[in-house]
Amino acid sequence: MSLRDATALVVLVAVAVGALSVIVFSLKLGISPLPTSAQARVALLSLVPGDTAGEVHELGAGWGGLALSLARHCPRAKVVAWERSWLPWAVTWSRARLARAPNLEVRRADFLAADLGQASVLVCYLFTGGMRALDEKLRRERPGAAVSVVTNTFLLHGWPPERVLTVDDLYRTKVARYARVPGAPTPRDDASGL
Ligand SMILES: C[S@@+](CC[C@H](N)C(=O)[O-])C[C@H]1O[C@@H](n2cnc3c(N)ncnc32)[C@H](O)[C@@H]1O
Repeated sequence: MSLRDATALVVLVAVAVGALSVIVFSLKLGISPLPTSAQARVALLSLVPGDTAGEVHELGAGWGGLALSLARHCPRAKVVAWERSWLPWAVTWSRARLARAPNLEVRRADFLAADLGQASVLVCYLFTGGMRALDEKLRRERPGAAVSVVTNTFLLHGWPPERVLTVDDLYRTKVARYARVPGAPTPRDDASGL
C-alpha cells in the first residue's frame, strides 16, 4: 500500500469513527448536535444583556457556534460550554482556542450532573426530555433562584416566561427567557441577593 493510500485510509477511518460517535451520542442523549440557526441566534443573544457578568452556561454546546457568540456578546462574563458528545466537544474546544476566546471554557461533561450553582444565565437548545430533566434539576437545586434561563424552540412548562420572541423563520421558532426558577428560594439563593 502506498503512503497516499494509507493516508486516505486513515482519514476515512477517522471520519467514519467520528460520524459513528456522533450517531451513538445522539441516540444516547436524545438529540443531535444541530446548531441554532443564524436568525434564532440573533434572537437568543437579544435576550442576554451584553453587560452580563458572572457565569453564563451553555447547556449542550454542539459545534460551538453559539458558545463563541455568547463569549463575544458578553465579554465581562465567563461562558462555560457543556458538551458530552466527543466530536462536537473537540470541535468546540478547538474553535475556542483558535478564536482566542479567553472567557470561554469548554467542558466535556454532562450538565445534568454539574454544579450550576454559580450560574447567572443558562442558555439551551435541547428537546422535550432534556428540558424536563433541566426543569427538575433547577427546581431541586435552585428553587426560587433569580437565574435567567434562555431557551430555543422548547419551552419550560409551568415556568412563567419573562419574554418570548417568535423568530421570522420557516418554523416560527420560539425563543424565551425565564427570570426565576419556580419555588421558594433556599437560604443560599436568598442570601445571594439575586
Ligand atoms: C441541538 S444541539 C444545540 C447546540 C448548540 N447549543 C446550539 O444551539 O447551536 C444540543 C446539544 O446538546 C448536547 N447535550 C444533550 N444533553 C446533554 C447533556 N446532558 N450534557 C451535555 N451535553 C448535552 C448534545 O450532544 C447536542 O450537541
